[in-house]
Amino acid sequence: MKIVVAADHGGVELKELIKRSLVAFGYEVEDVGCFSKDAVDYPDFAEKAVQFILKNECQMGILICGTGIGMSIAANRYRSIRAANCSNVYTARMSREHNNANVLCLGARVLEADTAIEMVRVWLDTTFSGGRHQRRIAKFSD
Ligand code: RB5
Repeated sequence: MKIVVAADHGGVELKELIKRSLVAFGYEVEDVGCFSKDAVDYPDFAEKAVQFILKNECQMGILICGTGIGMSIAANRYRSIRAANCSNVYTARMSREHNNANVLCLGARVLEADTAIEMVRVWLDTTFSGGRHQRRIAKFSD
């Protein structure tokens, strides 16, 4: 499975750590930036990442900014994107089980790096439950 990752300047350091973990977990990674701490605009990087998912070049995405909020708002403007801004391992797991999230958003300024990496591991290991949850997400998403 190929995962697209993106960050703004607030998330670039955590992106590098997560990228290393993804490779160690055995995933292919597409990194669309940013690549330095120079200030950038998170919607530009959310857009770049989302395009890889919409074109089926990546199956899932991980978007990181200071809080995870801007990235999640920007990514959720696309109907087939279900971006979850998660705050701990439990919400990361539930975003897969119940919401079939295809994008995980993380706040680099709110999460410890170890917690964020564990969230990524659990998020990618968790499958969608379907059933009544499929009916619910079909009401707002492709
Ligand atoms: C950038 O300073 C910050 O606003 C951004 O990383 C993010 O937290 C926005 O939601």
